[in-house]
Parts: sequence; C-alpha cells; structure tokens
Amino acid sequence: MARITAGVATSHVPAIGAAIDLGKTQEPYWAPLFAGYEKSRAWQKDARPDVVILVFNDHATSLMLEVVPTFAIGCAERYRPADEGWGARPVPMVQGHPELAAHIAESLIIDEFDMTILNDMDVDHGMTVPLSLLFGEVGQWPTRVIPVLVNVTQFPPPSGDRCWRLGEAIARAVASFPEDLNVQVWGTGGMSHQLQGKRAGLINKPFDQAFLENLTTDPQALRKLTHYDYLREAGSEGIELIMWLVMRGALGDAVNEVHRFYHVPASNTAVGHVVLERA
Ligand code: DHB
Ligand code: FE
Repeated sequence: MARITAGVATSHVPAIGAAIDLGKTQEPYWAPLFAGYEKSRAWQKDARPDVVILVFNDHATSLMLEVVPTFAIGCAERYRPADEGWGARPVPMVQGHPELAAHIAESLIIDEFDMTILNDMDVDHGMTVPLSLLFGEVGQWPTRVIPVLVNVTQFPPPSGDRCWRLGEAIARAVASFPEDLNVQVWGTGGMSHQLQGKRAGLINKPFDQAFLENLTTDPQALRKLTHYDYLREAGSEGIELIMWLVMRGALGDAVNEVHRFYHVPASNTAVGHVVLERA
C-alpha cells in the first residue's frame, strides 16, 4: 500500500529561486538561509520519496482571477515551470503521478472535499522554490509530484481547520492506494509577511516561533486560528500558513521532528522550515 512517511513545511519566497538560478547562494545575504536547508537535503537523500504531495498556492500565475478554486488537485502527467514575468526558472519539468492523483481526487470528492481537477497547469515559485530548497540543483527532480492547490490569494480562503481536515482526507486516500509508494506531504508558504499596504514588511517572530513549536508539540492548537488571527499576527500573506496545516493533518498525531529552521530576512518574508517524520 502507499504510505505517508514524512512531512515538510517551507516558505516559498521567489527571490530564493532567483538567488539559486543566479549563483548567489554563497553571498553573505543568502548563505545563512541556504545553510538552514543542508540537513534537510541530506535527509531527503535517505528518505527517497516516490511521490510528494506538494500543497501550495498559485499566485495568479496559472489560475488568473477569472477562476479561483478553493481546493484543486493536479492530475497531469507533467507540469512546466511557469514564466512569472522574467522567464521560466531553469529547473526541470515536474513529473506528476496521474494514477495516484486521480485516486486521491476520487477519494477526496467522495469524502466531500469538492476538488477542482487541473489537467494542465504551469507551476510557479510556490512549487519550484521548495523543490529547489529540498533537492538542490538537479537535472531531474528525484520524485514525482502531485500538486494540491489552496486559495489564499482572494478572500475568503478556507479555514485552517478545513485545511487540516483536507490533510486527514488525503491520508485516507493515500492509505487506500494499492501500489507500494513512499509518499511525503509538503506544505509551503508563510511565515509572517505582508507584501502591500500600510503594514508592508511586517514580520512577527514571536508568532512564527510559537507556530513552529506548536506544529510539532501542540498542533491541535493551530486548528483554532482564524483568518483574522493570521491577518493580524502574520500579515496579509501570512495566511499561506494554512497550507502547512494540510501537511500536519495528513501526518497524524505522533511525529518526530527531524529539523527546524527559522531565518529573517529573505526578501520580505520570515522563512520557516520543518521536517517531520511519522513516529
Ligand atoms: C514574497 C513571498 C511570497 O510568499 C510570495 O509568494 C511572493 C513574494 C516575498 O517575500 O518577496
Ligand atoms: Fe507566496
């Protein structure tokens, strides 16, 4: 049977992708950030996932504001890195897993999560930056990927608790897939950041660090956070953290924390990163 073995959470700042692609990772501004991912890259070499269910948000790249699905799942064979205005990143094509994706879509919809099915899409920094951070510069990504998209760009996003329950439903779907597959679930985005308005530049270290601590030790507490809590404490883009709760809901109660990292600044964002294994 397919089984979820681990979860990863990471911010997905586009400037991190640019730093990698322009060879700036050892510059003083960026070196501490990339050092924080070294342990995770070494861990991934042993973890060897067959499939990553990668939860992210499209930033009006593939899905313009004409259509804004609350939850969507990619069922395509492959996904092109998107051109976000300065050309596509020079990273490999992302290989999907259409059979497992179709199985998860069916299971989720029967489980009353009305997923939008995406059979063709380009993937933006929400996906390509986490892949680069966890796998480095490679000729081919060492895993297949199933994109799961959550709307956090146009109000109203789903609640964090709903995201948690989506994660639980994804775990049920994976557990009923007959093929023997090592599956990870990743949640991307966050931590505190606000890219516009009067509070642009907002960073809230105490909130972020409590969120990181609770993710491992008291994740149920995070389910209670509302849109307004995220907006007030973590800024307008801090709402991306609800995608971490899809990952955490999918892992179940007992986890071992393999790695935790927090770093400010990276562009306008506080970068957080966690690796959790199922106990
Ligand atoms: C930044 C962060 C994001 O999460 C994003 O989607 C776009 C920009 C930033 O910090 O610049
Ligand atoms: Fe983002």
